[in-house]
Amino acid sequence: MSRSGKVTVVGAGFYGSTTAQRLAEYDIFDEVVLTDVVDGKAEGLALDLNQSRSVEGFETRVVGSTTGPDGSGYDAIEGSDIVVITAGLPRKPGMSRMDLIETNAKIMRSVAENVAQYAPDAVVINVANPLDEMTALAQLVTGFPKNRIMGQAGMLDSARFTHFVAEKLEVPVGAVRTLTLGSHGETMVPVPSACTVNGQPLTDLLSITEIEELVDRTRKGGAEVVALLKTGSAYYAPSAAAARMAKAVIEDSGAIMPVCAWVAGEHGIDGVYLGVEAEVGREGVRRIVETGLTSEELAGLVEAAEAVRAKQADVVDL
Ligand code: LAC
Repeated sequence: MSRSGKVTVVGAGFYGSTTAQRLAEYDIFDEVVLTDVVDGKAEGLALDLNQSRSVEGFETRVVGSTTGPDGSGYDAIEGSDIVVITAGLPRKPGMSRMDLIETNAKIMRSVAENVAQYAPDAVVINVANPLDEMTALAQLVTGFPKNRIMGQAGMLDSARFTHFVAEKLEVPVGAVRTLTLGSHGETMVPVPSACTVNGQPLTDLLSITEIEELVDRTRKGGAEVVALLKTGSAYYAPSAAAARMAKAVIEDSGAIMPVCAWVAGEHGIDGVYLGVEAEVGREGVRRIVETGLTSEELAGLVEAAEAVRAKQADVVDL
């Protein structure tokens, strides 16, 4: 098996550490780097992951590094092909993703400055919330070309929607295809017209009311997990989604996936980071795929764009 490339995961909380684990277990990278501000945490988890290699059967090396406010420890990420940014606080019960904006913006600024310095050629995948705004801030601070900065949300939201549909219809998840676009939040735009079960339109199998119920649960999918966990937010489905995006990048696969990407005229929307379908490869976003949308879905996407545009303008001052 040939391995190539170096991928960094910034932040060794549950989201970051499970992402690092998935990336290591793919066994396609030379090296996975995990960093954290808590002294020894990243090194400890890296050692633990390395010790799982013979059991799980992967050779990818995992390196941990503690980073300091002065940028110390960031030399470990030098030359990364991909950087997944998970640093930031997760929600607590009752909080919206937007409640995190000020705290996470400060963390993002510091991380993005170091990424720009040590991994200037990397493709960045942001997962910190509020997702669309923090993705815009990562681009602003790094100054990287916009196609090299993406956010992870649509893969996760679609995966949740898929699970709910499969559960409702009692079919394997593999039979279900769903799609969500828009923001990772209130203005998430599920796209029922693109949803199928064994190739059959979802709209033939469920009533509008039933689809609405699943859409609503999808929109609140993250909050439902937060309410149960009480101490943090979801990480298994989120890390699965983020790791798949990194895989598409390193393999230059051209996979089409829903991601938060810079939209410049597609769908008639201009100049905003927004959840859309995109072809993902070695350079990040190769192109936005203009999924055929019903007029109602397109109106939802435009509404989402305007909502996140206003907030993205605010991050400049945070
Ligand atoms: C969620 C968080 C990670 O949706 O945004 O679970």
